[in-house]
Amino acid sequence: MEEPDVSAVKELAEGYTGREDGLITVLQEIQQIYGYLPEQGLKIVSQALKIPMSRIFSIATFYSQFYLERRGRNIIRVCRGTACHVRGGKAVLETFEKRLGISDGQTTPDYRFTLETVACLGACAMGPVTLVDSKYYGKMTPVKVETLIDSLP
Ligand code: FES
Repeated sequence: MEEPDVSAVKELAEGYTGREDGLITVLQEIQQIYGYLPEQGLKIVSQALKIPMSRIFSIATFYSQFYLERRGRNIIRVCRGTACHVRGGKAVLETFEKRLGISDGQTTPDYRFTLETVACLGACAMGPVTLVDSKYYGKMTPVKVETLIDSLP
């Protein structure tokens, strides 16, 4: 996978030189810039903050807010909760998988989409529900899946 230009990380990490307590903040800022934590960027952080890579990895994997792999421009979350499932959620998920050619947790090779499933999106009355970034799409059907995919950047 192509690594991004991590020069911004250098500048950021320099502000925390030798400061182990700044790790989480630095990781959050890196993720805000890149959408994930690029390995080259973590190496810079490791050197600047004087924290071994193994520790940075264990922290980054411990917190679910951090991603170690590049994600898609559109994060599609399909609800697999019971209320959505009984209203056809399975067919909605299968249509996303088939159309995008990826499964739960994967990203398309062009980094346009990441597909994830979630237990319940808290909008059961609208089921089956799909969340794209922070926008909810209710009463989803396989046909709506097709339209939604085409409408996304
Ligand atoms: S079960 Fe899907 S939103 Fe609650």
